Amino acid sequence: MATTSAAANLLDDDAVREFVSHGYLVLRPPMPDGFAEHVLAECERLAVEGNPGNGIYEAIPRLRELFEHEQVRGPLDSLLGPGHVMHRHRHLHTTVPGFSSFHWHQDDVNMRHHQVRRILVMYYPQDVTHEMGPTIVLPGTHFRNAPTSRMNSYTNFRGQVELNVPAGTLAITHYDIWHTRVPNTTSRNRHMLKFVFDRVHEPTAPSWNHDPTQDERIREELVHQRFEHDGSSDAYKLVSLRLKAWNWLTTGTTEPEPGSPDEPTVISSYR
Ligand SMILES: [Fe+2]
Repeated sequence: MATTSAAANLLDDDAVREFVSHGYLVLRPPMPDGFAEHVLAECERLAVEGNPGNGIYEAIPRLRELFEHEQVRGPLDSLLGPGHVMHRHRHLHTTVPGFSSFHWHQDDVNMRHHQVRRILVMYYPQDVTHEMGPTIVLPGTHFRNAPTSRMNSYTNFRGQVELNVPAGTLAITHYDIWHTRVPNTTSRNRHMLKFVFDRVHEPTAPSWNHDPTQDERIREELVHQRFEHDGSSDAYKLVSLRLKAWNWLTTGTTEPEPGSPDEPTVISSYR
């Protein structure tokens, strides 16, 4: 039976765990035939007439259909809670043929959150291939604050994920995830529409389709998740942040639990 509301399209525990550990999810909401093609044609028009900056949402009015779709609202409600809002900053990122920049970064200033307070949403209105200069994300890096000048010196990481996606795909990422794009070696523009969503209310209970009987399993998986680019020390440090994030999303508190890596250690010789 077809689902009819955002509530029916909330994420499940495994999807939220995936977001907490990896820092992103990829969705492909079933928009009406021709929707992505319409947005793509509008992006091509704006690439010629001039980028409207924050006005991209008004410049392509049908984008409203995307963010009102129950299969987009449901996941955003799940991660940001009810009442989340679209930030005024939006942008059409067009990678033109021959564009060759490659620089890892985190968006905005270095004021980072292990909680899920802000989400970056990227919409791709066309099929994206490696040759077109896709967005690349590095799973798990939303918990790692690093100066942009340092990240600029990096090129490729083991485990980086190229978002070579079909037309109509949305990537929903934690705002702090490390990302970049690769050169566009084709003769076509590659378009990505960027939006930012903010949480309004502090969580007091899970805002997704939560099954309390799965909580212990989810926590175990958060503890044991490893990425290819992790050193052993990095992986250890990430565990506590994942558990803090999960605790905060499920209860609104980040208090450490007995036996967790964050439980305070009493050192009797310390003065
Ligand atoms: Fe960025």
